[in-house]
Formats: sequence, structure tokens, C-alpha cells
Amino acid sequence: MKTKIGVVGYGYWGPNLVRNLASHPLCAGLTVCDVDERKRDLVQSRFQAGNVSVTDNYQDILADDEIKGVVVATPISTHFQLAKQAMERGKHVFAEKPLAHEGPLAHELVELAKARDLKLMVGHTFLFSPPVLKTKEILKKGDLGQIHYIDTQRVNLGLHQKDVSVIWDLGPHDLSIILYWLDDVPVEVSARGRDCVVPNIPDVCFMTLKFRSGVIANVTVSWLSPTKLRRTIIVGDKKMLAYDDTENQEKIKVYDKGVNYQDPETFGEYHLSYRSGDVWSPHLDSYEPLYAEMTHFLECIQNGRQPRSDGMIGWQVVRILEAADQSLRNGGNVVKLAWEEYE
Ligand SMILES: NC(=O)c1ccc[n+]([C@@H]2O[C@H](COP(=O)([O-])OP(=O)(O)OC[C@H]3O[C@@H](n4cnc5c(N)ncnc54)[C@H](O)[C@@H]3O)[C@@H](O)[C@H]2O)c1
Repeated sequence: MKTKIGVVGYGYWGPNLVRNLASHPLCAGLTVCDVDERKRDLVQSRFQAGNVSVTDNYQDILADDEIKGVVVATPISTHFQLAKQAMERGKHVFAEKPLAHEGPLAHELVELAKARDLKLMVGHTFLFSPPVLKTKEILKKGDLGQIHYIDTQRVNLGLHQKDVSVIWDLGPHDLSIILYWLDDVPVEVSARGRDCVVPNIPDVCFMTLKFRSGVIANVTVSWLSPTKLRRTIIVGDKKMLAYDDTENQEKIKVYDKGVNYQDPETFGEYHLSYRSGDVWSPHLDSYEPLYAEMTHFLECIQNGRQPRSDGMIGWQVVRILEAADQSLRNGGNVVKLAWEEYE
């Protein structure tokens, strides 16, 4: 079975999605839409023959009944309208991260997908990357024990975006990863940051999340750093894990390290014993996460599976981004998030 796909947006990221779809055995053909003529010329020069066509008009994709799924890779503020229109025409949607620029709009898309029985998937690419999946496996097996905290750093001398802050640009990666790993949502969010270079566009942010389970997570994102860091530490009461995405080999290391607390036998006399055992680096599969992500979208359309990075996690990420923005505006105060009304 093969499915024809429409892609809207062929800027910086769209070409990566198109490249993976164009030769995909589950993809019947592509129509790529971009309002910029130079981008359309690029598509035509790269895919001269074969099953890739271009258009400057999104309506062409919407009107094509053979197109069953639409991939949205345009600026964030346009995701909602483009995704909504596609679903209203009965098409499954893959929207790049973050799902929308406002929480209620992201939620509306989730509800629309449910009402129309359509797949809504979000481009949280890291949920298809081998180290993130291996870490999920390790967490699921309980190898680390009860999780105390997570600390992530995603910083480099990054491309300053004109329309969004670093929170909305890089934040979705770590937030989606942490939500996926913990299978939990934060009830408190606070954030401090600065607009060091461009006025009113924060380029560094330190976010702290407190989850329902009690786990706390710190997420550092910055476009202003001398070196590229993609580091995560997960500390459990049995073991600890370090994940460094910039490493070529041994991206994940599991440390049999910890500190045990022994109850005081007499008042005030507690004992701590330090454990420093083996370090283990699991084997990781080797494939391009984006290819796996596109395969997953096509399979979800064809087999009716629920996407791993579905609209729900996409909406949760947007809510957290909004809460971080709110906290940032108010000097880092704690913003509480209630989820019960949506359950
Ligand atoms: N998953 C990832 O790792 C990852 C990485 C980078 C970017 N992204 C996401 O991809 C999306 C696009 O980012 P980008 O950096 O490629 O942006 P971009 O500005 O480079 O490209 C957007 C393209 O969309 C086109 N466009 C805009 N509105 C349109 C419309 N209504 N109809 C047709 N074409 C339209 C523009 O002409 C442009 O070519 C964003 O949501 C971003 O967050 C994801």
C-alpha cells in the first residue's frame, strides 16, 4: 500500500522531510507547495523526474483527493490554519514542532483529529532517535529506579529566529523527550531568560518543571553559547544515566552510582554510603530519525495506528512553552498547570 502526500513549506526544514518521503517505498508521490518561487525551483531542480510535483497554491493540495496526508513545514504561526484546513478536507496531518503557536489552538487540532478520526502527528523528531528510544527502554525496565531529577542542556551558537524565541525553537525537543520518557506532565513551570542579542526575542532560557510524580527537570536552551552541548543527565535512586547526543559512539552511559541514606539509629546520626560501580554503554541502532519519523506517519495512515508523537503530546508541549513564556514575563514566578479537566 502506498500513500500520496502533500508537503507545505520547503524552507530550511521542509527539504529534509521531502528527501525522506520522495524515495520512500510507502509513499505514492508528493506535491510540494511553497509560496516562494525560488523554493519551488529548488524542488524542481532536485526532483526532475518522477513522482514529485510543485505548486504555489495550497488549495491544489487540499483539492487533490489522492493526497491522504499533509506535512506542514511552514513557520509556527501558520501551522494551525494549514493543519485545520487539511483535516477539514479529510486529510491526515503531520505538523512540524511545535504543533501551534497557542495552546487552545493546538487543543482544537487534537479535538478535530479525534472528531474526524484522522491521524495528527507532530514533528518531535527525537522521539524517533535511537538514544532517546533506548533511554525510554531503560526507564521502562526500571533500571534507574525511582527518578529524582532530569537535567538537559541544548545550547550552541545557534541561528537566531526572527519570529520565535529560543524557547519555542529548541524547547520542544527536550520537552517532548522528557514527557515521553516520564509519561507524565508537569504541574509547575518556571523560567528565567534573557534577550541578549535581539530585543524581545529571548535567546537563553532556563526552565524548571515539576511533574505530578515529584520528578523535577531543568531544561537549558540557548542560541548563545561557545560550544554545542546536547547533554542530558537522569538521576534515579538506583542508577544514573548520561546521554550526550554530540558523541559519535557511546551516546548513552548508565552509571551504577548513587548515595544510600541509612536512617539514624540515634537522633541526628544518619549514615551515607556512596556507591560507584560499573559504567555500561548500550548498543544503539543506527538509522536516520527523520526517515523513521516519515515511515511512522505513513504507517499510521495506512494501518490506523496512533502516532507516538501524537497531537496530545504536541499540545502538552505547547502548553508548557506558553507557561514558560508567562513565567519569563513575570520574573520567573511559578506557573501552575492543571490537566485534570482535559482527562
Ligand atoms: N523537527 C526538527 O528538528 C525541526 C528543525 C528545524 C525546523 N523545524 C520546524 O519546521 C518548521 C519550518 O521551519 P523552517 O526553519 O524550515 O522555516 P523556513 O522559514 O525556513 O521555511 C518555511 C517555508 O514555508 C514557506 N511558507 C510559509 N507560509 C506558507 C504557506 N502559507 N504556503 C506555502 N508555503 C509557505 C516559506 O516560503 C518557506 O519556504 C517550523 O515549525 C520549525 O519549528 C523542525
